Amino acid sequence: MDKFVINGGNRLKGTLSVSGAKNASLPLMAAALLAPGKHEISNVPELRDVRTMAHLLRITGAKVELLDHTLFMDTEPCTFWEAPYELVKTMRASIYVLGPLLARFGKARVSLPGGCAWGPRPVDLHLMGMEKLGANLELSGGYINAEAKQLHGARINFKIQSVGATGNIMMAAVLAKGTTLLQNAAAEPEMAALADYLNAMGAKIHGAGTDRIEIEGVSELKPANFRNIPDRIEAGTLLVAAAITGSELTLNNLRVDHIEAVIDTLEQAGYTLKAAENSVTLSSTGRPLPVDIRTAPFPGFPTDMQAQWIALMSLADGSCTITDTIYHDRFTHVAELKRLGADIQVEGNTAFVRGANKLQGAPVMSTDLRASACLILAGLAAEGRTDLSRVYHIDRGYERIEQRLRSIGAEIWREDEPMQT
Ligand code: UD1
Repeated sequence: MDKFVINGGNRLKGTLSVSGAKNASLPLMAAALLAPGKHEISNVPELRDVRTMAHLLRITGAKVELLDHTLFMDTEPCTFWEAPYELVKTMRASIYVLGPLLARFGKARVSLPGGCAWGPRPVDLHLMGMEKLGANLELSGGYINAEAKQLHGARINFKIQSVGATGNIMMAAVLAKGTTLLQNAAAEPEMAALADYLNAMGAKIHGAGTDRIEIEGVSELKPANFRNIPDRIEAGTLLVAAAITGSELTLNNLRVDHIEAVIDTLEQAGYTLKAAENSVTLSSTGRPLPVDIRTAPFPGFPTDMQAQWIALMSLADGSCTITDTIYHDRFTHVAELKRLGADIQVEGNTAFVRGANKLQGAPVMSTDLRASACLILAGLAAEGRTDLSRVYHIDRGYERIEQRLRSIGAEIWREDEPMQT
């Protein structure tokens, strides 16, 4: 197992290019199953989750290659409609193949994902939507067995906005007979990107990127090429890396309209942000001011930036509260931040943060993807050495993060960590 060693305290300076979005790549890859033939998706990050989805597509019979951030997929040879437990347990987003497999083959067998470090994370909305579209579902042996000779359009009103359920149902509904209306749908940019790709294949989707999406079913889709959107969470994380180290950093290849909530919150914390068309520059003048946040669906402050914001606020000049309204248990990073000297109490879904003058390096452990990002940020700002173990979590979502941070002046490197017995 690898670990990161960070010598904190360095100022960062320079320019980085934002990677393609992980959370868009995964549904885009699943969507390729809907149109048998050759697809190319560019600007895809080379990450473990992308490789897991590629593996899953290969199990269905697809040919998939990722070369220099472009995915070459041939979904013509697909004949198998199962997503096995061994893969789904390593990546919940595997459930994205449920809708496409069902729409293409009239059946799908997909393992139930189970819980995760942030709580139970149910998939009831995915199942409810498939049933409304006319699928017969049976849960047995830890698997969802779905069947439908012909899916039909339906009105679906989500009780909670769910990115995954919106994407899954959108992919099932594109080949359904009739029109589907999704209300209280997820408006995240990843869903707008998915709809753009499906429309490039010949689907008729209107309103994606808002909470009301209309899908007119079509009888078939044709393969298409597509350029993936930039990763708004990677962009936000890198901006916080610059902020927490009192640095200046320019990011290129991003969509400023996708990260407005993070930009606004950084400005409230006292940073100067200059945005141009596809780039933004952050400069710092001193310690951050405390800023309360409540995570919310897009365009609100993303839950995937909550842990990184807590890292920054642990050095704020004052106290603030950080509430996660999406995942109430998503605070495993707090205990590790406290090991670095942060002063944080969690009650329910709110973290009360009292900014400290400084953090002190220590050995810490990452528990999930964004928690790892949070601990890297804290380590960059802390005095002395931080050893962050279990960095396999970060490799799921940030491509070569240590090399890229080093290129702008951070002292961070990867070491092999002997297994503990
Ligand atoms: C996606 C992102 C994840 C992000 C999350 C919220 C990917 C691969 N992952 O996850 O990084 O943190 O959106 O922005 O894109 N819910 C239900 N029933 C369901 C589905 C969801 O109750 O059937 C609840 C969840 O428990 C959560 C809320 O809805 O409280 C939002 O979850 P959802 O948007 O579905 O998250 P994911 O798509 O799994």
